[in-house]
Amino acid sequence: MDQGGDQEVMKFFIQTFGCQMNVCDSTWIEMSLVKKGYRRVNVETDADIILVNTCSVRKKPEEKLYSFLGRIASLYKKRPYIIVGVGGCVAQQLGEKIWEKFPFVRLVFGTDGVASVPQSIERLIKEDGLKISLLNFMDYYPERNLPPYKDITKNMASAYINIMQGCDNFCAYCIVPYTRGRQKSRHSSNIIKECEMLVDAGVKEITLLGQNVNSYGMDKYGDGVSFVELLRKVSNIKGLKRLRFTTSHPKDISDELISLFGILENLCPSIHLPLQSGSNNILKKMGRKYNKEDYLKIIDKLKKINKDIVITTDLIVGFPGETEQDFKDTLEMMKLVGFDSSFSFKYSDRPNTRASKMMPKIQEKIKGERLSILQGLQEELTNHSMERLKDKIVEVMVEGISTKQFNKNRLSYKGREPGNRIVNFLVPQNMKLNIGDIVTVKINKIKKHSLFGEVIY
Ligand code: SAH
Ligand code: SF4
Ligand code: F3S
Repeated sequence: MDQGGDQEVMKFFIQTFGCQMNVCDSTWIEMSLVKKGYRRVNVETDADIILVNTCSVRKKPEEKLYSFLGRIASLYKKRPYIIVGVGGCVAQQLGEKIWEKFPFVRLVFGTDGVASVPQSIERLIKEDGLKISLLNFMDYYPERNLPPYKDITKNMASAYINIMQGCDNFCAYCIVPYTRGRQKSRHSSNIIKECEMLVDAGVKEITLLGQNVNSYGMDKYGDGVSFVELLRKVSNIKGLKRLRFTTSHPKDISDELISLFGILENLCPSIHLPLQSGSNNILKKMGRKYNKEDYLKIIDKLKKINKDIVITTDLIVGFPGETEQDFKDTLEMMKLVGFDSSFSFKYSDRPNTRASKMMPKIQEKIKGERLSILQGLQEELTNHSMERLKDKIVEVMVEGISTKQFNKNRLSYKGREPGNRIVNFLVPQNMKLNIGDIVTVKINKIKKHSLFGEVIY
């Protein structure tokens, strides 16, 4: 603890694993603790409070938690006063069993418990030996106190906003419906209010988040506003330069939503549309409720609205029963769509899921081979997609100084173009840029998955 005058300043560290929804939750916890007067530190060894926000979507991210807690265990031996909290999807999955394995953990919180984390930490500080678990799923979207963004969001140009919680789809391989609970849409007026506060505080880009944003408002918690209407409302906020959303489920994407890419000026031309597999046989077993023909129709419609729209995806290799032919179908679909980039994973058995009981399982070695073939193909597709940007003029939103020193004598920045690709660029000698500024850049070089350019007037 800092002994700053009479005041003791509690220092906290947050480690985040997992998807943007976890990043969003962690950011909210961070801001709330800062508002309470605590100070964020960048290394766990400096902290009095250590929180870890976890992911259990595959075995690997789950294992990251155990190695992290292993490190914290040795730290705890030296500093037994530290307060350790474990939250997010693994916490929800294991619940209070975490206390059996890691007795030094004092706070366990699931995704609906995030809203109560700051008060719980205050109690833990005051009451020695107390342990708190926040694991119940609520029967409503648990609204959080909005921190005074204006005082806190210095230098923040982009923000994530949760518009819903949970998922009702139960894809055969996926643990998310168990760790995040059923789908609960947040009231649109609360979303709009939060977006307005952020824009007022200087945020230029907002990404609306949910496991399946296309079905926003369609659960019993919805307030009658559909995702399309929500996008229109957020897009209308004065001063919002860029609007994005993720993740879209292909089965729920409507023509009306697709048409918005040609209507809303600040809606960025990029969409993440997880395909998972290019084989109809596997898609059926996964319970995805679309086939490759449906998927291709969506792609056609998107490209008709904007031929340069950036399309990214998620792919799984080695789902139980995946044959060589099923895998080839996935490669074929990748070529047909021409994905600009993709996240690809080896299928991983998750507790309670239907796929964990499906046979035959694919050997690790084969999964590894398929993954590397798939990633090789993606590399070609990504290169091709980037080549198309050569000599193009794009609007780039500044994120900071570029670490790629491609000209020793001149300052270089990095930022993102509307398609969400990172651009490194040089500026004239006396030009000073701030995070969130939007500049016009000509792309003049493409090297190893990176785009390089120069600011033009
Ligand atoms: N809600 C999003 C995805 C959330 S999980 C959607 O429906 O698309 C992020 C990605 O992790 C998934 O798209 C999937 O590709 C991958 N994934 C989920 N469960 C997995 C598992 N058991 N094994 C391997 N990959 C998995
Ligand atoms: Fe998981 Fe499917 Fe829900 Fe996505 S839509 S979170 S893959 S169950
Ligand atoms: Fe992971 Fe939970 Fe997100 S399992 S992917 S952190 S919803």
